[in-house]
Amino acid sequence: MGEKLSRVAIVGTGYVGASYAFAMVNQGIASELCLIDINREKAMGDVMDLNHGLPFAPSRTKIWLGDYSDCKEADIVVLTAGANQKRGETRLDLLNKNTKIFQSIVNQVMEAGFDGIFIVATNPVDVLSYVVWKVSRMPKEKVIGSGTILDTARFRFLLGEYFQVDPKNIHAYIIGEHGDSELPVWSSADVGVIPLCDYLKKKKGFQQCDLDDIFIHVRDAAYEIIEKKEATYYAIAMALVRLTKVILNDEHSILTVSTYLDGEYGHEDVFIGVPSIVSRQGIKQILEIELNDGEKSMFNRSVQILKEMAETLDL
Ligand code: 2OP
Repeated sequence: MGEKLSRVAIVGTGYVGASYAFAMVNQGIASELCLIDINREKAMGDVMDLNHGLPFAPSRTKIWLGDYSDCKEADIVVLTAGANQKRGETRLDLLNKNTKIFQSIVNQVMEAGFDGIFIVATNPVDVLSYVVWKVSRMPKEKVIGSGTILDTARFRFLLGEYFQVDPKNIHAYIIGEHGDSELPVWSSADVGVIPLCDYLKKKKGFQQCDLDDIFIHVRDAAYEIIEKKEATYYAIAMALVRLTKVILNDEHSILTVSTYLDGEYGHEDVFIGVPSIVSRQGIKQILEIELNDGEKSMFNRSVQILKEMAETLDL
C-alpha cells in the first residue's frame, strides 16, 4: 500500500505564507503543497523557487500554483493572506481590512467543497479565526488559529536563556489574545519538573522583576521586529509547520492555539489562545488551567477585548 497523500493548500504567499512553504518543504511534512495567491506571478515564482530546492529536501513534495478548486481535496487550508501589521499599528487595527479579504477567500474555499481543517495565521488572528468559523460554518473543532503558539515559543526561548535551560524543558504558557492583552500563566509554569516559583526561590540570582521584563519582551516582540525589518515571518512559519505536523500525524500535542470557547474558562462565543490538545480531528480538547485571581481577571479582559472587536463586524 502506498503512503497516504496529504495535501496542504496555502492561501497567501506573502512573507508568512512563503516562509511557511519553505519550512514545510525543508521538513518534508506534506506530500502535496498547493500555493494560492491573488498575485499569481509572485506565487508562481515561489513555486519555481521551492521546486528547485527539492533535490535538497528530506522527502518529495509536489508543489504547484493552484486555485480554489484545489482546496476540495486539501486536508488543511492555511490562511496567511491579507494585509500585515505596519509600524505603530496594532493587530486589531487590521481587523476591518482583513475581514473583507477573508470573507471572500473563505467563501471560495467552501464553494470548492473543502471539508478539512482551517489553520488561520493572519492578524488579528483570534477575531479572524472567528470570522472563518462564522463564514465557513465548519464545526468549531476544525477552525484553528495560531493563537499564542508563537508567544509561548518566545516566552520559552527567553526563559530558557534566562535560566540557562533548554526551552523545550520550560513548561510555561502565554494565553489570551495574540496581542496586547495576552498574559503569562506564572502560577502553573514549570522548569522541568520544578514549579517556576520554587525554582526562583531555590536558585540564587533569579528574581521576579526579571521575569516581568521577559514577559514584556514577549508581548512586544512583534512591534520590535516590525520596527527593525517591517514584518515577522520565520518563527510564525515554524510554529505553523509544527501545528500542521501535529494535525497530519494525529499527535495529540498541547499547543496554545486560538480556539472557540464554549463554556470553558466561563466564556463562550469567542476564539482565544488557550492550551488545547490538537489531533487529526482538529481541536480534541481544551485544557482549563487553574488561573489565580490576577490571571483570571487578565484573561477575562482579553476575552472582553476580542468580543468587542467581533461585535463590530458585520457577519
Ligand atoms: C507576530 O507576533 C506579527 O503577529 C505577528 O510576530
